[in-house]
Amino acid sequence: MCGIVGYIGTEQAAPILLDGLEKLEYRGYDSAGIAVFDGENIQMKKSIGRLKVLSELTHDGATMPGIAGIGHTRWATHGAPSDVNAHPHFNGDASIAVVHNGIIENYGKLKKKLMSKGCEFRSETDTEVVAHLLDYYYKGDPLAAIAHVMHHVEGSYALGILFQDHPGEIYAVRKDSPLIVGKGKTGSLIASDVPAILKYTRTVYFIENEEIVRLTADSLNFYNIDEEEIEKEPTTIEWDISAAEKGGYEHFMLKEMYEQPKAVTDTLNPRIRGNQILIEELGMTDEEIRSVKKIFIVACGSAYHTGVTAKYVIEGLARIPVEVELASEFRYRNPILSEGTLVVIVSQSGETADSLAALREAKAAGVRTLGIVNVVGSSIAREADNVIYTWAGPEIAVATTKAYSTQLIAEYLLALKFARVRGQITEDELADYIRDLKRLPQQIELLLNNKTKIQRFANRYLAARDVFFIGRGVDYAISLEGSLKLKEISYIHSEAYAAGELKHGTISLIEEGTLVAAVLTQEELYKKTMSNMVEVKSRGAFLLAVTNTDNVEAEKIADYVIYIPKTNPYFTNSLAVIPLQLFAYYVSIGRGCDVDKPRNLAKSVTVE
Ligand code: M6R
Repeated sequence: MCGIVGYIGTEQAAPILLDGLEKLEYRGYDSAGIAVFDGENIQMKKSIGRLKVLSELTHDGATMPGIAGIGHTRWATHGAPSDVNAHPHFNGDASIAVVHNGIIENYGKLKKKLMSKGCEFRSETDTEVVAHLLDYYYKGDPLAAIAHVMHHVEGSYALGILFQDHPGEIYAVRKDSPLIVGKGKTGSLIASDVPAILKYTRTVYFIENEEIVRLTADSLNFYNIDEEEIEKEPTTIEWDISAAEKGGYEHFMLKEMYEQPKAVTDTLNPRIRGNQILIEELGMTDEEIRSVKKIFIVACGSAYHTGVTAKYVIEGLARIPVEVELASEFRYRNPILSEGTLVVIVSQSGETADSLAALREAKAAGVRTLGIVNVVGSSIAREADNVIYTWAGPEIAVATTKAYSTQLIAEYLLALKFARVRGQITEDELADYIRDLKRLPQQIELLLNNKTKIQRFANRYLAARDVFFIGRGVDYAISLEGSLKLKEISYIHSEAYAAGELKHGTISLIEEGTLVAAVLTQEELYKKTMSNMVEVKSRGAFLLAVTNTDNVEAEKIADYVIYIPKTNPYFTNSLAVIPLQLFAYYVSIGRGCDVDKPRNLAKSVTVE
């Protein structure tokens, strides 16, 4: 999604803005721009396409002198990707410049009103409305103008603003779209995400909804929407910038796949003491755990897929009914949230607009909420009653891998904790489960080291038109993820089906040579899935099987078999996902796709 950077200080702003925007490239964008105050006027340059076009246009910022500026990478919502729709946007006489993440929902009405007052619009964006509206309310005091605008705009926004009349200041404001500020050695900075400014400071302030910041070269002042000054506590970012760099790998996705053993260990180990599971962050007494009657797991995309796995695991182990729901559905369907309901929101970024809205729905209904979140200090982490962090570290590739793996771990831990407290499993059984969990990092590593076999197979399928993933139980859950991974980065159409559902329609799509990837890790379901494999094979499918080492029978039916080491049946997704990630990755690079930044996608979907 869009990225924001701002700087005011003693150094040249443009190179710092370009550098910060580069660190945000992973979020996905279609155009970029910067605005810099040159001592007299605000200068602006923007361009469709990659950031390197903007860098060339400005000679790496050298042609835009000035010590205060704002920058933006845009992911189009209102108005097609184009030079003119790229941010920043000016008011009529170019004395106010604005960059914006989010969506102004009532922009149509506001635009009409402003046009009736003589404003002329250059772009099709909702953001330009903000620039003109600021101008409309500006009477010499930026703070008052910003507060006025906030009372009139509806929707979500993180804004960086320059006022030509106030050359020694830049402004930042947010509602429902992430924004941080910090102070470096040579000046103050704004960013929509930590990597953009981590090179300059580790001490950042997370801006809350309806807060305004005035930044000067050496000060940060915070205000509420009533223009009253407020105090804020800084947060220290613990991770290093190298964690957000490729570190010798060709792509972030590959690096992040290889970080999975560590990410899983980091998420697991602090919560295991001997043969006990301790999740202090859960904030629930045993009594409260026993009183849970129902769990909703609400999320989007891959995070939702971990929820589908978790449903099987939590229901199987703890015997608590679990409903898994897409956040975009949950938020609008008025779900029944009665006493004893726990709503778990799973999100890597902690900023996904639908997941955040679902969390707020649940809170408004008065039920307990729990976030499973990767980004420390993100909106979901801050707003949920409690949060279990997945210690995956920064994930840059749009296609999630290590965050997915750590979400599974957090959900297994939750299932086991609940199961033990509710007396559904014995101490000895828990010890066995813990033993299997602790083996996962090593087993994941083993699978990663076997990548050549998958790479060879992937190279044969670069021209595939359709791919189907099938499985039963948790194997169906992993099929969903395998299919999403492939389609999002290779642009090959793929679908996941519960294997038993094929013959209710989908099997008619199978033709000579169609690739079907069958996942069979559940011993008691081997035979069932194998008969589905026979069904598709007899209709011409080429069969890839991902199965346990003990299921050599699969070789009799499948054309290609990938084995995963044996683990507890509840945890197999942590292993089966590895070959599926590698397959998607190698197909994507084989087809020459942009693996880390697939077309049309954003890392963090902060708009609805
Ligand atoms: O940040 P979140 O976990 O809330 O993001 C949810 C989805 O947008 C995300 O998992 C998406 O599906 C990924 N592109 C999958 O690789």
